Amino acid sequence: MRLLSAFTLGVLVLPLTAYASEPHSYAQPDQVVVTHLDLDLKIDFPHKQLDGQATLKLDWKNPQAPSLVLDTRDLKIAKIEAVGTDGKVTPLKYALAPRDKQLGQKLTIAAPAHPAQVRIVYATSPGASGLQWLTPAQTADKKLPFMFSQSESIHARSWVPLQDSPAIRFTYDAHVSAPKDIRVVMSALNDAKHPLNGDFHFDQPHPIPSYLLAIGAGDIAVKETGPRSAVYAEPSVVGKAAHEFEDTEQMIATAEKLYGPYRWGRYDILVLPPSFPYGGMENPDMTFATPTVLVGDKSLVSLVAHELAHSWSGNLITAASWRDIWLNEGVTTYVQGRITEALYGKGLADEEALLSAHALQKEIGDMPANSQKLAPDPRGIDADDSLSDVAYDKGSWFLRTLEQRFGRDAFDNYLKGYFDHFAFQSITTEQMLGYMKPNLIEKYPGKMSWAEVQDWVYGTGIPKDAPLPESPHFDTIDQERSAFLAGQMAADKLGAKDWNTQEWMYFLDRLPDAPPLAKMQELDAAWHLTGTPNAEIGMRWYSHAIAAGDKAVWPAAAEHMTRIGRLYLTLPLYQALVKTPAGLSYAEQVYAKAKDGYHPLTQQAVDAIFAKARKAGK
Ligand code: BES
Ligand code: ZN
Repeated sequence: MRLLSAFTLGVLVLPLTAYASEPHSYAQPDQVVVTHLDLDLKIDFPHKQLDGQATLKLDWKNPQAPSLVLDTRDLKIAKIEAVGTDGKVTPLKYALAPRDKQLGQKLTIAAPAHPAQVRIVYATSPGASGLQWLTPAQTADKKLPFMFSQSESIHARSWVPLQDSPAIRFTYDAHVSAPKDIRVVMSALNDAKHPLNGDFHFDQPHPIPSYLLAIGAGDIAVKETGPRSAVYAEPSVVGKAAHEFEDTEQMIATAEKLYGPYRWGRYDILVLPPSFPYGGMENPDMTFATPTVLVGDKSLVSLVAHELAHSWSGNLITAASWRDIWLNEGVTTYVQGRITEALYGKGLADEEALLSAHALQKEIGDMPANSQKLAPDPRGIDADDSLSDVAYDKGSWFLRTLEQRFGRDAFDNYLKGYFDHFAFQSITTEQMLGYMKPNLIEKYPGKMSWAEVQDWVYGTGIPKDAPLPESPHFDTIDQERSAFLAGQMAADKLGAKDWNTQEWMYFLDRLPDAPPLAKMQELDAAWHLTGTPNAEIGMRWYSHAIAAGDKAVWPAAAEHMTRIGRLYLTLPLYQALVKTPAGLSYAEQVYAKAKDGYHPLTQQAVDAIFAKARKAGK
C-alpha cells in the first residue's frame, strides 16, 4: 500500500463542470494556454504566506475567447491586470467561484482583448494545501524557520494561480525574497554558491507542467556529490545525506547510457525535514526527499534512482492527465529497477521488484474493477478508490514483461526512442500505445500480441503469465518465517543477522495480519525491532506488533508517528491503532501532540482515518 491514494492525490473526484480533457483542472486549454510564468514572491515566515505576483504569458487559441480561466485554492487575490506588448498595464475584472473541496476556486478573468500577459497580485493562506511552514523549533537545527512546497498532484494552485493541468507546459522564472541567512531553492537551476542575502533568482528554461513547480527555504547547507550533483539539507543533516547519496553521479551516468542524455543540467537533492509527506518528489533540477531514507547503509537509495528516472519518464514525457499517471510512475519504477540493478546488482533489483509485485497481488483483488486498470475509465472512478499501486506496480510489471518478451537490447532501444520522440510533451496512454504498436509490437512480430498489450493496459487484475523474478534469499526467508510461525524455529535462529532492509521488509510484510502476541515478543527479544532507526522496518514492525496486541510497543510507535509525517510510514500505525477503542484513544493523544508538526496533507489523512474509525465504532 503506497498511500498516495485518493485523499492524498485529491484528484479522483470528477465533477462534470470541469474541463473535459483534464477533469481536475478548470483550465480551458482550447481557448488559451500559459506559455511562461514569471513569479515575484516574498517569503513571509511570521504570517506563513507567500506574497507577490504571478505574470502569465498567454497564447490565445480561440479568437473569440472571452476570458482566461485559472485554478486557485485559498489564494487572496489583491488585483489582476493585463500587461500589453508595449508594457501598458490595465486593470481586469475577475470572478472567483465558490470553493470546491477537491478543485479549489475557479478564477475567471475577463480578457476579451486577449492581452499578451496577465498579472495576478496575490498572497497564499497559512493553510495552503501545497505548502508546509515549520517554526525553528520544528527543524533539526532549531535556528531558522523552514518552508517547502509539494505541488503534485493538484496543489500548485494553492500557491500560484495557474492552469493546473499536467497537459499544459510552460517555462518559468522567479524572483524570491527571503530573510537574511535563509537559502531558497526551486525546481530550476540552483547555484550552490548563491549568497544568503535574501534575494534569489531562478530560471527554468524547459517547459514543465505545473505540478513540477517547487520551492523550499530554510537553514540549508550544500555539499557536492559529483560534477553536476549536490545535496541540500539542514547543516546537521547534510554530511549524512552526502554520504548516503554519494552514488548519484553514477546513477545519472547509468540512466544516460540507457536512455540518452540528462537534459536538465544539474541534478540536486533537497533533503527535507521528516514531515515531508512523501518519500521523494521529482522536482526538475532539485529532487525533494524524505530524510527517512538516510539509514547509513545506502539500502534505501533506490528512491534517488526513482526520482532521477523521472527526469525521463515524467518530467521529459509527462502523463497528460492524472488518469494516465502510470506513464510517469510505472515507467519510472521500471527505470528505477534498471538503475538499481546496474549499481547494486540484480539481486537487490529483483528483491525490490518482488516486494512491489507482492504488494500489488495482495491489494488488487479488493480494488474496484476500474481502479485495477492501468488506464482506467475516468468516468468510473470515485473518491475512495486508489489507483496508485496499480500505476507503480502493475505499470512496472508490464514493462518488465515487455523487456522479457522482446529482449533487453530491443526494449532498451525502443524506450530510448520513445523518450526522444515525445521529449518535452505531455501525452496520453493512447499516444504511448500509438507509438508502441509500430515501433515495438509490430516491429518484432510474434513476441507479444496486441490483445495482450490491451489486456495489460485496459484489463483488470494481473495477466496470468506475468513473469516474476526469482530470489533465493526471499525463498529462504519464506521458509524461515513459516518455520518460526509453526514453532519449529526459534526467533534467534532466524538468519536475520545478514538481512538487508528489503529482506526485513519481506519477512515482516508476509507475517499474518494479526500474528500471535508471543511470537511478536519473541521476535523483538531476539532482534530489538522496537526503536529501530530504520523507519521502513519500524512501520512494518509496529503495525504487526500493534495488531498482535503488544501494548509495550506503543510508546516507540508514538515516537515514530510524531517524528515522521511521511504518509506511507505514519498512516499505517494510525490505522493499526484505531482498530481497538483503547488504541483509538491512544492514537488521538499521539495526534494531539504530533498534529502541529504535520503537513496539511498528513493532517487531512489522519483526520480521515479518525472519522472513519469513529463512524465504525458507533
Ligand atoms: N511523484 C511521486 C510522488 C507523488 C505521486 C506525489 C503522486 C503526489 C502524488 C514520486 O516520484 C514517488 O513516486 N515517490 C515515492 C518514492 C518511490 C521510491 C516509490 C514515495 O514518495 O513514496
Ligand atoms: Zn515517482
